[in-house]
Amino acid sequence: MKRETIYILAIESSCDDTAAAVLADRKVISNVVATQKIHGQYGGVVPELASRAHQQNIVPVVHQALTIANIDKKQLSAIAFTRGPGLMGSLLVGTSFAKSLALGLNIPLIEVNHMQAHILAHFIEGEESAKAPPFPFLAMTISGGHTQIVLVRDYFKMEILGETLDDAVGEAFDKSAKILGLPYPGGPLIDKYAKLGDSNRFPFPRPKVDGLDFSFSGLKTSILYFVRKGVKGNPNFINENLNDICASIQYTIVEILMNKLQRAVKQTGIDQIAIGGGVSANSGIRQALKDAEKSKGWTTYIPKFEYCTDNAAMIGIVGYLKYKQGDFANLAVSAKARYIIE
Ligand code: KG4
Ligand code: ZN
Repeated sequence: MKRETIYILAIESSCDDTAAAVLADRKVISNVVATQKIHGQYGGVVPELASRAHQQNIVPVVHQALTIANIDKKQLSAIAFTRGPGLMGSLLVGTSFAKSLALGLNIPLIEVNHMQAHILAHFIEGEESAKAPPFPFLAMTISGGHTQIVLVRDYFKMEILGETLDDAVGEAFDKSAKILGLPYPGGPLIDKYAKLGDSNRFPFPRPKVDGLDFSFSGLKTSILYFVRKGVKGNPNFINENLNDICASIQYTIVEILMNKLQRAVKQTGIDQIAIGGGVSANSGIRQALKDAEKSKGWTTYIPKFEYCTDNAAMIGIVGYLKYKQGDFANLAVSAKARYIIE
C-alpha cells in the first residue's frame, strides 16, 4: 500500500521576515518570504514595526505559499509554526495565526524552535538529494540574532556547547557597517568590499573568551575607536580605506568563528561541520570551511542560501519530523521569546 504524503504548512515570523512554506514530506513545494524593508531606514529591526508588518503580510504570504504549492487547505496534514526564540510581538502574529488555522481545519498544530530549525534545514530534500550531515555532527548557527555551536546527536537531541555572550555575529557585521556609514543590513556590503581589500592591513584585537562561547561587542568598540581616530586625522579616512577596513573586519570575524570551531572539533572529536543562518552566505566563512576540508580533513555542510536566512521551509522540515513522531502541540501553546534548545 502506498503511504500517504504528509503536507505541512509552515509559518515563520520570529524577526523581520514573514514566511510561509508547504512541504510534501521532506520536499519543499513552496517557500515564500516577505522581507520587511521598513527597518532599513532605522539601521536595525524596530520590534513594533515588525509585528505590524507581520500582521499585514501573513495572510497574503500564506495564500501565496498555498497557491504556488497548488494544494488546497483541506489537503494539509498539520500546521507548523515558530514558537520562539524571537521578538515577542512578531512571534505572537505567527502563533495566533497558526493556532486559529489548525483549529479551523481541525488538524494538528506543531510548535517549532527556530534555532533547531536552522540546524534541521540540512534535512530538507534537495533537487539532487543534497547530502545531509550524519549524526553526530557539530552545527554552527550564525545570523543577525544568533551565534551558537551545537552538538547534534539526533534530530531532537541537541546540546549547546557555546554561544555568544553579547552580540550575534551578524550584529557584529551590521554594527561595524553602520560605523562605516553603510546601510542596514551591512553584512553583505562588508563581504562585497572585503573582496577588494587587504585583510592584513588593520589588525583588530581578538576577544578573550573561555571555552566555546563568543563575544563580539569588544570588537565593535575597537572598530568604533579605530574609525573615529582615523577620521580625526583625515576626514576621508573611511572612503580611502573602505576595502581594507572591510577585509580586516571580515578576516577577524572569520578567524574568531574558525578558532572556536577548531576548538569544538578538538573537544568532541567530531569533524562533521554544518552551518546555518544568514552569515553562512559570507564568502570568507565559506572559503575558510572549504579550506578546512583540505587542511584539517573536516567534512562541511552548507545549506542552499534560501534555507540559510530566515525562512519557513526550515520550520516545515521540523514540522514533518515531529509529525512522524506524533509530537503535537496543545492549542493553549503560547509564544516563547526566550526558547532554549534542550
Ligand atoms: O538568518 P538571517 O536572515 O536573520 C536572522 O535571524 O538574523 O541573518 C541576517 C544576518 C544579517 O546580520 C546580515 O548582515 C547577515 O546575516 N549576512 C551577512 C551576509 N549575508 C547576510 N553577513 C556577512 N556576509 C554576508 N554575505
Ligand atoms: Zn534565524
